[in-house]
Amino acid sequence: MSLRLLATVASTLLCAQVTKLLVQWVSKQLYSPLREMPGPPSPSLLFGNFGKLSFRLFQRWQAQYGPTFRYHAIFRSHHLFTADAVALHHIVNNPDVYEKGEMVRYALTQLLGRGLLALEGDEHTKLRKIMSPAFGPSQIRGLTELFLDKSIELRDVWTRSPADPTGWIPVDVFEGLKRMTLDVIGLAGFAYEFHALKESTDEQEKRSPLEVAFREFFMDRQGEGVGIDLRIVLRAMFPLLRAIVPPHPKMLAERKTMDKVGLQLLQEAKTAIVSGDKDSERRDLLSLLVQSNISEQESHRVSDQDVVAQLPTFFAAGHETTSTATSWALYALARAPDIQEKLRAELTSMGTDSPSLDALNGLPYLEKFVREVMRVYGPVAFTNRVATRDDIIPLGTPYTDTRGVKHDSVSVKKGQFVRVPVGAVNQDPRIWGEDAAEFNPDRWDSIPSAASEIPGVGYAHLFTFLGGPHNCIGWRFAIAETKALVYTLVRGFEFALALDEGDGEEVQIRESVGAIRRPEVVKRKVSGSWKPWKGYEATEAQLPMRVRRI
Ligand code: HEM
Ligand SMILES: *[C@@H]1O[C@H](CO)[C@@H](O)[C@H](O)[C@H]1NC(C)=O
Repeated sequence: MSLRLLATVASTLLCAQVTKLLVQWVSKQLYSPLREMPGPPSPSLLFGNFGKLSFRLFQRWQAQYGPTFRYHAIFRSHHLFTADAVALHHIVNNPDVYEKGEMVRYALTQLLGRGLLALEGDEHTKLRKIMSPAFGPSQIRGLTELFLDKSIELRDVWTRSPADPTGWIPVDVFEGLKRMTLDVIGLAGFAYEFHALKESTDEQEKRSPLEVAFREFFMDRQGEGVGIDLRIVLRAMFPLLRAIVPPHPKMLAERKTMDKVGLQLLQEAKTAIVSGDKDSERRDLLSLLVQSNISEQESHRVSDQDVVAQLPTFFAAGHETTSTATSWALYALARAPDIQEKLRAELTSMGTDSPSLDALNGLPYLEKFVREVMRVYGPVAFTNRVATRDDIIPLGTPYTDTRGVKHDSVSVKKGQFVRVPVGAVNQDPRIWGEDAAEFNPDRWDSIPSAASEIPGVGYAHLFTFLGGPHNCIGWRFAIAETKALVYTLVRGFEFALALDEGDGEEVQIRESVGAIRRPEVVKRKVSGSWKPWKGYEATEAQLPMRVRRI
């Protein structure tokens, strides 16, 4: 009797639960404020437009539907896309309403721990405040020597590589730049020597345990590395699975290593500061953070654990972005020999291998070139936000719905997913003109007034580093590092594309689909479809080029 009652109660509850979900889904369909917004049709009931959301596809949709439209995600839910400067200003400056969604934050936390990227609200504000001084202009000025030293080390690694009879050296510039930027963030961030640029076998033994852990974690995607493991995705999407599907064991082990080494590094930084040794004055971000923690009032201080948790995030956010941008910079130079020559003429007019940051910033063509790289090849394609409550997003450019009604704002419901097209804003023809997609450093001689509405970090009217309280804390770091690299490498080498398109093989360098626009090589098969090109031993992101010492 009681058992039957229990079963009845249980099934009633289950029915109620399922019904509730169904009702929610149906009402979401019927009352979704985005229902009548223009946008592409959904090719699949289950997956919507998912599966091929490339940067170029969004650009095409933008051209067709305007800066604000909706597209379909799984189960026909609507995602909002907006490249409208007024809307983006609202979104990035209201971080309490527009957070990274629970799913993204969970995945980020699994992968990188509780770093700045994954935190929101008070936790984020507190940590961000204490870390910010370490990224100010004078700190970055002090790091310039390191940026240049490591650029020179990379130049020398390439110089020592075997050349063909005409003097050209084949290199994967992406791989080299990734090693360089990893070494830099290790030292500049945490006084930690990754030795990623060291190649030879006996030196390999000197590789640090953290480097090994880190390389496995982020760089070795095709091999045994964790990368974006299916388990992370599943656990992020379905909270119920978190209790059942265990995380990747290797990922746990590597995270543990990073925490252990992180604690050690923090202890070293603290000891150095307490001993107050002026000769060995440390400039790394970790030391600055320990210092700003000391000078903060009690309630604003951060725990050791919270600080150690930042290491993986800074290693990840701080190296692949800058190396990707600089790879594209060299690619742009190889494609435009006149720009390459003009830039080299300016750089070789300087009589030193190690100029100050102010001297670098005083080079006008280098400035224009780097701005144009960050505009056309800004390495972050997009980010996402989810509305934590119902809201109204104002628009600069109104949209006309499918019934012909004009709207100068979008009303969204709690839970609305918003795609923030970081890269597309920089190439929006409505802002930059008809030639927006072209790489032309001279456009910076006169900037269109519409560009000043972009809610960026204040660097060259670009959205490359986002804007608002979650903007890129490392943007000055990234610009200075990119300048140091371009300065050293373009003075040292002539750059050309390595792929010979003349031998009947149709190969192309493209950008990968995903949040980071990495260079990859694809090859067209006879049948017509593009397949990953395997060469230079790497199988994923790569940028094969030829360099010749000057
Ligand atoms: C060209 C190079 C870079 C680009 C284009 C870039 C871009 C971005 C973007 C778009 C965001 C916002 C992500 C979001 O909220 O969804 C971001 C955040 C962040 N970036 Fe960068 N970044 C670059 C280099 C760096 C470097 C060198 C560092 C560290 C030294 C760094 C550290 C961070 C951190 C910690 C965050 C999280 C900030 C927060 O949420 O408060 N980035 N970056
Ligand atoms: C910050 O200060 C608190 C209180 O003095 C201390 O317990 C903590 O270890 C410090 N954190 C760091 C990262 O130095």
